Amino acid sequence: MNIAIIGYGYWGPNLLRNFMSIPGATVKYVVDSRTERLDIVSRNFPSVKTTTSFDDVINDEDVKAVVIATPVFTHFELAKKALNAGKHCLVEKPLTADSAQAQELVDLAEKKEKVLMIDHTYLYTPAVKKMKSLLQEGSLGTLKYFDSTRINLGLFQPDINVLWDLAAHDISILSHIIEETPKTVQAVGISHTTNGLENIAYLTIKYDSGVIGHFNCSWSSPVKIRHILIGGDKKMVFFDDLEPTEKIKIYDTGYSVKTDEDKRLVMVDYRVGDIFIPKLDKTEALYSMAQDFVDCASNGKRPVSDAQMGLNVVNILSASQRSIKEGGREIIL
Ligand SMILES: NC(=O)c1ccc[n+]([C@@H]2O[C@H](COP(=O)([O-])OP(=O)(O)OC[C@H]3O[C@@H](n4cnc5c(N)ncnc54)[C@H](O)[C@@H]3O)[C@@H](O)[C@H]2O)c1
Repeated sequence: MNIAIIGYGYWGPNLLRNFMSIPGATVKYVVDSRTERLDIVSRNFPSVKTTTSFDDVINDEDVKAVVIATPVFTHFELAKKALNAGKHCLVEKPLTADSAQAQELVDLAEKKEKVLMIDHTYLYTPAVKKMKSLLQEGSLGTLKYFDSTRINLGLFQPDINVLWDLAAHDISILSHIIEETPKTVQAVGISHTTNGLENIAYLTIKYDSGVIGHFNCSWSSPVKIRHILIGGDKKMVFFDDLEPTEKIKIYDTGYSVKTDEDKRLVMVDYRVGDIFIPKLDKTEALYSMAQDFVDCASNGKRPVSDAQMGLNVVNILSASQRSIKEGGREIIL
């Protein structure tokens, strides 16, 4: 299957490297509006054609799929054009910067019977796969909370705030493992620049089942932290993505709550047990993601990170933006 990669900035090179090694896929074009980026492609990958014109790809019937790795505000127009030209589409996260546009792309892909997939890379990490299987097999018990911290001295994005940039990862992970639509979204944040885009923000999501998710995101931290804690009523998991090998620790820790009706007291029994570190497979998540796209586009399957996942994430991010602008009001979805 011939594919084209659109956008060769920071993330595009990672996509090109992985797609070049997927059996059954050939990267025919890399497109970028900056010729200096295309020169790098030509020097390192002489078999790949380069062009500044997206229309070259659209008009080439041999190209069956496009991979869009340009800034978020460009995703909608590029993906719409590609789907209308009958090409499968992999779009970088987040799908769009607007719920109505995301819904339009989901509907268009369905109408054209093409795969629309979003690169929520984390869903393909061995760590997230493990967390999902632990929940599914019941060894964590019932999920109670999800708590993530994703902070560093990050690149201030010119078109999106810190939640659209960083929380997009954690929202996709929570949506993937919980498989439930949230009830409410509430967020606060602050912009320390003149463009009004928040560089620090805190988001809370609540579900009908009683699960609470909290997301702490910042581009203004002197230390880099990539932590997720998920708590079940049997066991809890700590995921540290910066740990080279021991990324996940499973704590046999929990508590049970009893109420003494006579004394009107809530009593909590604590249990602190062993910590288990599972061995995880070493496959690069981006390779698994690229493989899923090629497989689904070639065989008409539904990807793990499908269009609906992309839409759900955009809906939560849009609601979080409204909440921030309305002083932290709880938005009912
Ligand atoms: N999955 C992940 O973990 C991950 C990580 C980083 C970035 N991303 C996503 O990847 C996307 C790109 O991010 P980035 O950091 O690489 O941005 P970037 O600005 O570094 O690169 C974007 C490139 O696209 C080119 N471009 C812009 N508009 C174009 C157009 N209309 N046609 C052709 N080329 C065009 C630019 O010249 C630039 O080289 C974003 O959606 C971002 O959220 C995902």
